[in-house]
Amino acid sequence: MRKRIVAGNWKMNKNLTEALSLTSEVVNMVRDEVRGDVEVVLCTPFIYLTSLKKYTDEVTRISLGAQNCHQNASGAYTGEVSAAMLASIEVPYVLVGHSERRQYFGENDELLAQKVKIALENGLKPIFCCGESLQQRQNEDFLAIVKAQLTASLFDLSPEDFGKVVIAYEPIWAIGTGLTASSDQAQEMHAELRAHVASHYGAQVADDTTILYGGSCNEKNAAELFACPDVDGGLIGGASLKSREFTNIVKARM
Ligand code: 13P
Repeated sequence: MRKRIVAGNWKMNKNLTEALSLTSEVVNMVRDEVRGDVEVVLCTPFIYLTSLKKYTDEVTRISLGAQNCHQNASGAYTGEVSAAMLASIEVPYVLVGHSERRQYFGENDELLAQKVKIALENGLKPIFCCGESLQQRQNEDFLAIVKAQLTASLFDLSPEDFGKVVIAYEPIWAIGTGLTASSDQAQEMHAELRAHVASHYGAQVADDTTILYGGSCNEKNAAELFACPDVDGGLIGGASLKSREFTNIVKARM
């Protein structure tokens, strides 16, 4: 059975004091209000992960994720953070291939394949982000483009390793724009991606793959998006910065 997950991606937001209060509020609300089998992941800036762990450790359904890791094991890469470092502080998840990393830091399919691989070698679970630009959506080859992102960065993995990867479909035109994919658009892509996984790894692996939707998901539209049969949860940006709204989105996934 695939997992239901609601993950928050804080991006480059919050100072330490704000990070501590946001996390403790989310932990309390989730503990008191959330039932069912939904898992909550907070992908915070690296610098806060160690301090936040004592909060998230209180509630089993909540865990932490990093927003990136380096593709090499260690060495002279000033300013970078390795997958082994994340594993050493017991961070279970790591975002790989967010469109902002692809766009602003030139991360391409081959590099992302390396990042996924090293994350898995270190026991981390990658949340692999994919999605098309507005122009690609308008040219109507968007389904093929997003499927190709999966093929290029994930399909060399063994079925066992692939089973540890979470996919997050994030149409770039919906990120931070207030333009959400409609539930029909999200379902169409998610079903297509699941079929694509099935064509390579078989129906069982595809059925067990968690596919999240991200892009202007908020407390108002989450329930409709999560009602789609192939949408297993969300990757939430702006709305994850407010404890009440984020928890309401988690509750929409219960
Ligand atoms: P928004 O929810 O702010 O659109 O961001 C989505 C996102 O990029 C999550 O990774």
